[in-house]
Amino acid sequence: MRKKKLIVANWKMNPGSAAEARVLFNKTKQTGSRLDKVETVICPPFPFIGLFARAGTTRVFLGAQDVFWANSARATGEVSPEMLKDLGASYCIIGHSERRALGETDDSVSKKLRAALAEGLTPIVCVGEKERDAEGRYFGILKAQLTASFSGITRAQFRDISIAYEPLWAIGKSAREAAEPRVIREMSIFIQKVLSDLYGEEAARLPRILYGGSVEERNTTPILAEGGVSGLLVGHASLNAEGFGKMLKTANAV
Ligand code: PGA
Repeated sequence: MRKKKLIVANWKMNPGSAAEARVLFNKTKQTGSRLDKVETVICPPFPFIGLFARAGTTRVFLGAQDVFWANSARATGEVSPEMLKDLGASYCIIGHSERRALGETDDSVSKKLRAALAEGLTPIVCVGEKERDAEGRYFGILKAQLTASFSGITRAQFRDISIAYEPLWAIGKSAREAAEPRVIREMSIFIQKVLSDLYGEEAARLPRILYGGSVEERNTTPILAEGGVSGLLVGHASLNAEGFGKMLKTANAV
């Protein structure tokens, strides 16, 4: 089991200017660089990634919010794994629910995963159900997402992937509406079970399982301590450098 927690800042389509992005990146980097039990990943929007080319450290890493599934193709508007790698990105989020809402499918997630891995990027694959129905159909939904996303991924490649459980009903709200730690624990055990059916028990322990969805300062400790996850994917709360810095320090101490 890896000891360091992975805390990912998903800036989404923020901030509005390069100047603000620089301030946010530098402040976050400053805090993250001091912490020895946390790996901080900062995922700015594509146009800002070049601003931070090779600005990563051994504790703070650059990531992207998406990636295309090929290095060379007629693909207007897309960004290749090769370009991200060249700018020093180490991670990329794949299959975020906001991308899925714009047409991303399990099939494109699987293609992007393979392309990212081939370029040496570490993918953070997002899965999660839209709603929690009383019959528990969300378990099947999650299982189908995981199985389809990992089709074509070998056991050796699979160890380098992180998985973010992000239930759609908990995204973009306040800490009060985040999934409860006991739910997060249950779902991370379920994800682990699906992965062990696909890759064997030992291999299934290797990827880090993260939680995302309204993680803020006040629920960082309970989610990490009781939720059984090895990291967090943080959206809106990562845009406030001070607050996010506190979350990083909290994660370092849990
Ligand atoms: P949130 O976003 O923290 O604002 O809920 C998380 C995400 O969508 O990755």
